[in-house]
Amino acid sequence: MSAPAVHSAFSKDNPFPAKITENRLLNKAGSAKETRHFAVSLSGSGLSYKAGDSLGVFPANRPTEVAEILERLGATGDEPVSPAMLKLPAPITLHEALTHKLTLGSPTSKIINTLFAKTTDAGEKAKLEALIKPEAKDALAGYLDEREYVDILAEFPNARLTPQEFVDHLRKLMPRLYSIASSSKVYPDEIHLTVAIVRYTTNHRERHGVCSTFLADRARVGETPTPVFVSHSHFGPPEDITKDAIMVGPGTGIAPFRAFVQDRIAAGATGRNWVFFGDQKSHTDFLYQEEWDAYLAKGQITHLDLAWSRDQILKVYVQDKMREKAAELWAWIKNGGYFFVCGDAKRMAKDVDQALHDIIAEQGGMTIEQAGEYVKQMKKDKRYQRDVY
Ligand SMILES: Cc1cc2nc3c(=O)[nH]c(=O)nc-3n(C[C@H](O)[C@H](O)[C@H](O)COP(=O)(O)OP(=O)(O)OC[C@H]3O[C@@H](n4cnc5c(N)ncnc54)[C@H](O)[C@@H]3O)c2cc1C
Ligand SMILES: NC(=O)c1ccc[n+]([C@@H]2O[C@H](COP(=O)([O-])OP(=O)(O)OC[C@H]3O[C@@H](n4cnc5c(N)ncnc54)[C@H](OP(=O)(O)O)[C@@H]3O)[C@@H](O)[C@H]2O)c1
Repeated sequence: MSAPAVHSAFSKDNPFPAKITENRLLNKAGSAKETRHFAVSLSGSGLSYKAGDSLGVFPANRPTEVAEILERLGATGDEPVSPAMLKLPAPITLHEALTHKLTLGSPTSKIINTLFAKTTDAGEKAKLEALIKPEAKDALAGYLDEREYVDILAEFPNARLTPQEFVDHLRKLMPRLYSIASSSKVYPDEIHLTVAIVRYTTNHRERHGVCSTFLADRARVGETPTPVFVSHSHFGPPEDITKDAIMVGPGTGIAPFRAFVQDRIAAGATGRNWVFFGDQKSHTDFLYQEEWDAYLAKGQITHLDLAWSRDQILKVYVQDKMREKAAELWAWIKNGGYFFVCGDAKRMAKDVDQALHDIIAEQGGMTIEQAGEYVKQMKKDKRYQRDVY
């Protein structure tokens, strides 16, 4: 059954207040990672989606961080404010602005200049001056990188800002996108997500990725309304179901390929499926292992190649597995197969792209330039698609 083509009243500008119906840790005990599976109910929304789309989620900031900022500002939260970035028709309360509308991280140099102008304390003034002088550009960048606004307010208690002055420094809180990990052919009324929860420490404080920890810690299952929208994409499985699909998705990059495989099985696709997955350790980080094992056992995926980067001293990555299988990979591609990549943009997607070029050149007997042209044509034909972040 495919998703009904109904028109929904809900969109990015009018997000649907969805309920999270499942929040499950995918890593096993002992893992260094926290990757969670979420199910989000679309019931009553009229929203539809297809494999390859993403879900946009509007998070709320952490109440403890909001409370500390209010305390540092000497405010109650009831003060009316009109944050410059938001261009609102009417003021909202400071509490609402800090919880739902503004980003509390990634401070800019503007706050340092303002605090310098405002502080009444000589020691604070000297410290701020040292940060703003032109030759301290790199030190200032490093200082800001390690801090959120709450740290800076705490460090300069004598530079009192009014609530309005403070919010005028903050940028808009943006929704986060997540690759949809389910097929609407199988789950017409819900969307699955595979989310890496962001937690780290800087300036001796624990940091919490706004949206990933909103989903993990603060959105109560079955209770908290979570504003969402479907972000439609050109990324998606081959329309021609006779075509083979090669899917490379380490870490959370596996999310859309869980959707692709569900979708292709439900559509009765005769094209073969080849999945490359990788993560740190086989014992703890094999996301959705039972599902992949079942597909393999039934022949619904032809190959599952796994790259465990931290099971041994030398790193093994998905592109190493591609190179090991270069001849067969080339055979699938030459035969009209599609090549998909999802996950980390900075390193993985570049290295996988390089491996693809090298494999095509070596196996296809081409020069690097010819392989480059071949890959360009694959992109034009939508046979090479990426969803990287
Ligand atoms: C099309 C698309 C699809 C996506 N799909 C997925 C998906 O399926 N699953 C998924 O998990 N994510 C996905 N993402 C990423 C997701 O949108 C968010 O960016 C991610 O969840 C982090 O958001 P956050 O609000 O939790 O963290 P934020 O509050 O935005 O914090 C993240 C920032 O924290 C900083 N940071 C993170 N780790 C460290 C560290 N160790 N040390 C110092 N600083 C650090 C970095 O500056 C980073 O940019 C996707 C993104 C896009 C654009
Ligand atoms: N913008 C954000 O705030 C944000 C938040 C969460 C995730 N992300 C992005 O999403 C990506 C996915 O996160 P994730 O935690 O699921 O997994 P990940 O960090 O991408 O790690 C998955 C696997 O990929 C390996 N890997 C590292 N470098 C690689 C490379 N150059 N080529 C191929 N594989 C490589 C990792 O190995 P090792 O780690 O052992 O080297 C690990 O085994 C992150 O890397 C990050 O870029 C962004």
